[in-house]
Amino acid sequence: MQKRFGWVLSLLALAAISCGAKIDPNQIRIGEFGSLTGAQATFGISTDNGIKLAVDEINAAGGINGKTLKVISYDDEGKPEEAAVVVTKLITQDKAQFILGEVASSLSLAAAPIAQQNKVPLISPSSTNPKVTQVGDYIFRVCFIDPFQGQVMADFAMNNLKAKTAVILRDQKSDYSMGLADFFVKRFKEKGGTILLDQSYVAGDIDFKSQLTSIREQKPDVIFVPGYYTEVGLIAKQARELGIMAPLLGGDGWDSSKLYEIGGAALDGCYFSSHYSPESKDPKVQDFVKRYQAKYGQVPDALATLGYDSVGVLAAALKSAKSLSGADVRDALAATKNYPGVTGNISLDANRDAVKPAVVLKISGNKASYVTTVNP
Ligand code: PHE
Repeated sequence: MQKRFGWVLSLLALAAISCGAKIDPNQIRIGEFGSLTGAQATFGISTDNGIKLAVDEINAAGGINGKTLKVISYDDEGKPEEAAVVVTKLITQDKAQFILGEVASSLSLAAAPIAQQNKVPLISPSSTNPKVTQVGDYIFRVCFIDPFQGQVMADFAMNNLKAKTAVILRDQKSDYSMGLADFFVKRFKEKGGTILLDQSYVAGDIDFKSQLTSIREQKPDVIFVPGYYTEVGLIAKQARELGIMAPLLGGDGWDSSKLYEIGGAALDGCYFSSHYSPESKDPKVQDFVKRYQAKYGQVPDALATLGYDSVGVLAAALKSAKSLSGADVRDALAATKNYPGVTGNISLDANRDAVKPAVVLKISGNKASYVTTVNP
């Protein structure tokens, strides 16, 4: 008898699982997808840390209109196909009402159409390719976009480093890298610079010597490498091994503690653009750095900080929205103006993109230091 009852209970439990997660009306369900493993793992892990810190703080302060925030996270392993799978799961199975992610533009692009079709607002903390928010009116981001970032680095190369010639080494499978390279080239040429050579690789490559040998022949003033940290670290090392001394320049995709583990001293004298500097004297930044360090024992990188801000922007919209329906929160998000983020004031424009300053950082001794801020 008892046995039979147990069996019925487990059937019931199974049914509950297959109908999706239990819905607690006092919780607001936020889905998160990111690269918690793989070649971009620090992106996903840092973002997750930032998101969890923000959610913990909001819940500790009483939640939002009496409800607590609940985050459901999945690892997409840095793979676009997997991003589409887990976002579908978040929406259909976990009944996520809002979604945060991804970092890499190609992964946001793989998942955003699913959120858009289901009218679930999605906020990318850090995808900078313009196409991401063009997927539709439910897709937002809290970071600047690559036409601006490319301009910042082209101007920096020409004005600060007095570069007249550049070569490009881009990742041809990455929407981010392809876009940022194009925007850099456009600006560099418009300002009278010359692009001597435009080379490419594919993420996962480990030997860049043939591209770098061609680059060496051109004797460029700077080398623009808009990739992610794993390949950039190897490229820097191999460039120095081949005797190339020109500085490498890059974008936000360089930001990872792993970059220095891989590239080491080869990165000294190189520069990249980013979303924030933990060295900022702004008390809001210093306060955040302290709270983050207390929880995780590390200085927050840009991903962690943007993850934190993405929750802040969502929470502000949840408070001001007419209801918690996807459509009402979408409208509230679209109206975001002057949200005081750690990465700067966040106002979303008509394309649902944030208009914000960028910082340029210089690497020396396995550390990136603040050089300058560029306003849009
Ligand atoms: N902007 C990058 C992209 O769109 C992602 C990124 C952001 C990586 C910030 C590192 C830091 O793919």
